[in-house]
Formats: sequence, C-alpha cells, structure tokens
Amino acid sequence: MVITTRRTVLRPWQPAEADRLHDILRRPEVTGWLGDARPATREQVEDMIARHLEDDGIPVCLAIVPTGAPAPAGSVMVDRLSHGDPQLGWYLHPDAQGNGWATEAAAAMLDYAVGTGAPRVWAGMWPHNRGSAAICRRIGMVDLGRREDPWYGTVEYPLARHFCVWQPDAEHPLDVLDRLNAEATLPHTTEEPPVGPDGWTYPGPP
Ligand SMILES: CC(C)(COP(=O)(O)OP(=O)(O)OC[C@H]1O[C@@H](n2cnc3c(N)ncnc32)[C@H](O)[C@@H]1OP(=O)(O)O)[C@@H](O)C(=O)NCCC(=O)NCCS
Repeated sequence: MVITTRRTVLRPWQPAEADRLHDILRRPEVTGWLGDARPATREQVEDMIARHLEDDGIPVCLAIVPTGAPAPAGSVMVDRLSHGDPQLGWYLHPDAQGNGWATEAAAAMLDYAVGTGAPRVWAGMWPHNRGSAAICRRIGMVDLGRREDPWYGTVEYPLARHFCVWQPDAEHPLDVLDRLNAEATLPHTTEEPPVGPDGWTYPGPP
C-alpha cells in the first residue's frame, strides 16, 4: 500500500531501514507516548517490518518518507479498537519533528480510514500529549476532551484525550464511549506516564 501526499510518500518500511526504525523505537521519549510504552529491541523492529510488509488494509503501518529525505521520518498507522472502529496513530524521529510531516501523513491516513466507510475514526492519546492533540486539530478531528478510556485506561491512569470524526448517521462517539466505559474493567498498571513537553505531567490540561 502506497499513499502520496504533497511532500511525502507513505509506504511500508523496508528491511534495510531497520536501523532507522530502531533508532526511533529505542527512545523512551517516543515510546513513552505510545500504547505499548516499552522501547523496542532491534529484533522486535525487524519482526515489525516483516509483519508490516504484508499490511494491505487495516491494520496498516506505513513509513513517512519526505521528498528528498535520506530516511523515513517516522510512521503513520491505522488499526482497530476492540469494538471495531479504526484508530489513527503516528510517531516521528526527534530529528524529523517540526516540519509538519506528521500532520500531512495523518491527514492522508484519516482520508484513507474515512474512505473505508467506517462509521467513526478515532485518535487517542495521553491527556498531556499536546503535539498529538495539535495534529488532530489541524486535520479536522473533533476534540472529545479528557475522558475515561475503555481501551487503554488503567486503574492508575484511567484518562485519555479522544478525537473522532464520524458519519452523520453513526452512533455518536460520546455515546459509544459511555457504553464501552460502562462495560469496561480497567486493569492495574504500575507504569508511570511520560512527562510531556514543557514538563507537563499526567493528566495535563483539561
Ligand atoms: C506527536 C509528534 C508526531 C508530533 O511531531 P511534529 O513534527 O511536531 O508534528 P507536525 O507534523 O504537526 O509538525 C508540527 C510542526 O511543523 C510545522 N509545520 C506544519 N506544516 C508545515 C509545513 N508545511 N512546512 C514546514 N513546517 C510545517 C508546524 O508549524 C509545527 O511547528 P510548531 O510545533 O512550532 O507549531 C511527535 O512529537 C512524536 O513523534 N511524539 C512521540 C510519539 C507520539 O506522541 N505519538 C502519538 C501517540 S498518541
């Protein structure tokens, strides 16, 4: 699967790019913000690339390759939440941030996910992840605010900031959240959430 945007190409990571992907996913300052918070080993990265080479729908994880760049800037992805709706995600190497590439890739992935006919497309993040929240706003997703998270919430850290776009005739995302939260049993965790930009800590701003 390949998507072309104005300044990037989104395509599968290649085995020869394992060092670059590992140089992103070995960093706690990147992985601390992701659902699977532990930095990845080189072997795990190789497995990921082999797996993602076969992605052709949802889930799909693509490298973001800016025009003329020597290496991918990061990844943009779409997977499925436990109740079936697609969810977007992204991360960049620290040396590639601040160019708008994540926003451009996220917009294209949102178009793709909406184009599958899904009733809703979500993005969720730690409530103090201001960079990701800014991307969601720039690409036109609706901010549902800081709410209990039925998918990734834990007893210690139950909250996430959710963004969504939805079809006019779909069940409203806040009703979906209420329904799923009423059924959810949150697990315990001892993992600390990361400290955000400017030293902001969980749960961050309202
Ligand atoms: C979240 C993350 C991807 C944001 O990266 P980013 O590069 O800041 O994101 P953007 O693509 O939106 O780039 C934004 C910057 O590019 C600038 N920009 C936007 N469009 C641009 C363009 N066409 N040309 C040049 N610069 C541009 C913006 O002005 C913005 O700069 P600012 O921060 O000074 O306002 C990055 O911080 C990251 O990888 N974090 C860790 C992983 C993570 O949190 N993932 C999400 C988990 S939910």
